[in-house]
Amino acid sequence: MFFELNEEQLAVQEAARDFAQKELKPGVIERDSKGIFAAEQVRMMGELGFLGMMVSPEYGGGGMDSMSYVLAMEEISKIDNSCSVLMSVNNSLVCWGLEAYGTEEQKAKYLPKLATGEWIGSFCLSEPEAGSDATSQRTTAVDMGDHYLLNGTKNWITNGSSSSVHLVIAQTDPEKGHRGINAFIVEASWDGVTVGAKEDKLGIRSSDTHTIMYTDVKVPKENRIGEDGFGFKFAMKTLSGGRIGIAAQALGIAGGAYELAVAYSKEREAFGKAISRHQAIAFKLADMATEIEAAKLMVYRSAWLKDQHMDYDAASSMAKLYASDVAMRHTVEAVQIHGGYGFVKEYHVERLMRDAKITQIYEGTSEIQRIVISRNILKGQLYLPIFNNSMEPHV
Ligand code: CAA
Repeated sequence: MFFELNEEQLAVQEAARDFAQKELKPGVIERDSKGIFAAEQVRMMGELGFLGMMVSPEYGGGGMDSMSYVLAMEEISKIDNSCSVLMSVNNSLVCWGLEAYGTEEQKAKYLPKLATGEWIGSFCLSEPEAGSDATSQRTTAVDMGDHYLLNGTKNWITNGSSSSVHLVIAQTDPEKGHRGINAFIVEASWDGVTVGAKEDKLGIRSSDTHTIMYTDVKVPKENRIGEDGFGFKFAMKTLSGGRIGIAAQALGIAGGAYELAVAYSKEREAFGKAISRHQAIAFKLADMATEIEAAKLMVYRSAWLKDQHMDYDAASSMAKLYASDVAMRHTVEAVQIHGGYGFVKEYHVERLMRDAKITQIYEGTSEIQRIVISRNILKGQLYLPIFNNSMEPHV
């Protein structure tokens, strides 16, 4: 490695690896098969500080950098991606968004509970007819003087039934396009908030993904985030950081499958020797290792740029685009290396293969990442900064 992880980062990495192996691995197959939410494990994640890692200590968080967060995400994603997506949404979409753009009152009221896992958060942007095209929001929030009246439906909401706090993006003035969009803090217990049935999914099966309906929900004025009309930019800025978390998740999925494939191929014999000694398998391992290393550098660099307060929009999209493709490609290969065993649940790789797919879809599909990257190129960003350069900080 041409840059060093510091002691705190290494300790976080080890703690996450330990937690994933000891607490997440034992029940992960059953939770995945039956779609059981990991309530006890999520409670422990809160207790251990994994749910508010980057939140300032004054609001009850760990005060850590993005690099530490990425390392923890990677380790937890090697084992349980229903837990790691909850962790990613809570840390980088909900807590980060609130701390970066919330008022002092909003931060004091919500962050201490969210950072410790007493409350879980959801990020409610997607709608039945507005996924990639995020400016086409149909959910409305009408200004009623001292409050907004919120009506609409959000879907694919991660932590849909476990969350107590929703960050809801809604249209307040359709005439103004994206400048007529606002973001609101909505409590799940308020009148008019209804959680629909849990989605039955290909992967991350124990993550509670739901549709959420808002019917005449009264949202106090003080629960709007930022200036009037800031909601779309809030969503975009927050998603830029969120994509680093999902890129780390994809990296963890690829790494988990690779570790299993290497171990299995060294044990399993065919034609008188370990299958890892056959070139057909050895070359697959070589390709996996190479692409995972490349993805790792991209993911770590995007976290590093964020920690340096430099522009990370293109870097996080590139990291997510590449790492999610690597995760998909190499989980398929890991199943192939395991042969028939790879096709059964007991060997873990089929679950990682199913989990990998969503990393190419949520927090912006791979096609959306290409839009973000190409727009940054056309704005003049021909290359991303490298680690030891002297670019001016970008706020
Ligand atoms: N930071 C700040 N401002 C930004 C920005 C960013 N990263 N990206 C865009 N903006 C601004 C633009 O500058 C523009 O503002 P001005 O007009 O003042 O210049 C405004 O936002 C509108 O931008 P665009 O014209 O680029 O908007 P667009 O309609 O072309 O859409 C898009 C851009 C990138 C495609 C965007 O719609 C997008 O990211 N779509 C994907 C949405 C997404 O990721 N959804 C995931 C759902 S959340 C989820 O999955 C969470 C979960 O539970 C796991």
